[in-house]
Amino acid sequence: MPSTAEHTILRELLAHPGRWVSGTALAGKLGVSRVAVWQHMEKLRAAGFGFEAQRARGYRIAARPAALFAPLIELEQRVRPRGFSLLVLDTVDSTNDEAARQLAAGRATPFAVLARRQTRGRGRFGRTWHSDSSANLYASFAFRPRVEPERMQTFTLWMGVNVCALLEKFAGVSPGIKWPNDILFDGRKAGGMLTEARIDADRIRDLVFGLGLNVNSPAAGWPADLARRAVSLAEVTGAPLDLNRLAAALVGRVLLAFQTFADGEHRDTFADLWHRHDLLRGKHVALLEGGRRHAGTVTGLDDEGALLLRATDGKTHRFRAGEVTLEKAAS
Ligand code: BTN
Repeated sequence: MPSTAEHTILRELLAHPGRWVSGTALAGKLGVSRVAVWQHMEKLRAAGFGFEAQRARGYRIAARPAALFAPLIELEQRVRPRGFSLLVLDTVDSTNDEAARQLAAGRATPFAVLARRQTRGRGRFGRTWHSDSSANLYASFAFRPRVEPERMQTFTLWMGVNVCALLEKFAGVSPGIKWPNDILFDGRKAGGMLTEARIDADRIRDLVFGLGLNVNSPAAGWPADLARRAVSLAEVTGAPLDLNRLAAALVGRVLLAFQTFADGEHRDTFADLWHRHDLLRGKHVALLEGGRRHAGTVTGLDDEGALLLRATDGKTHRFRAGEVTLEKAAS
């Protein structure tokens, strides 16, 4: 973990991108010697930073760590609600599980848990989320919302379209969302969401929104069956993304989206965003739910975020959960 001094040095250098910051000015700000400043810079180098140093001019940033680095995320973060805290871990079993442990221990919300690697990353239906690359994002956000459990489904959908909108803005890409929780590009999965809640009587006690996003990992590093179905953002854009900047932008977007949802002000925007990113409307699909297979054409969502499927007999059925696969339209 970097010291306060290293945090201050970074803040100064990041406040003047591309410009030189003198060692004397840094030493003055910290109340330490120039040699001490140099020692702090060495520690930051070990964390993955590169600095240019010139005796007469000082220092400037030449390279940033490729992996998650908490002070960089905090310094880049524009949205910082009161009471928010960020936990960046090297390795954890699952960021969702760590967030649940922190909630159980009474940590104030909202907070986010990010990790460079997960040893037991979890997906829906008890599946494993492949999480061994520090080039990707594994993030969980914890809240104690005052909302009814029935609104959980729309919460994940709302978060999903917000993540899509953020990626569009941040990386200039066009992600699609496959109900209820997959983020795709050209049929290949780049992200997945897992929302978990503890419910007391008829109220949500706390809520963890987990997001896994393939950012910079090359598909070649994945097991073969996954490489066929998955894609990373860098493969879509053709260039690596700054993981810390993306994490900072994501944290900001998720926190704002949560607030809008909790205030009940998301409905109109939701309909527009869903329409923009929805991959299923009008498509012929098969939906697997509790071991049963249902086929039909997707006509949209109801108010609770359930998927509406028109079967061949013309009847419309609603599904609150299930796994959807696109079918070839009958000719
Ligand atoms: C899915 O597509 O089935 C959901 C995948 C969710 C993965 C993320 S990674 C961060 C968080 N921690 C977990 O263990 N799972 C979620």
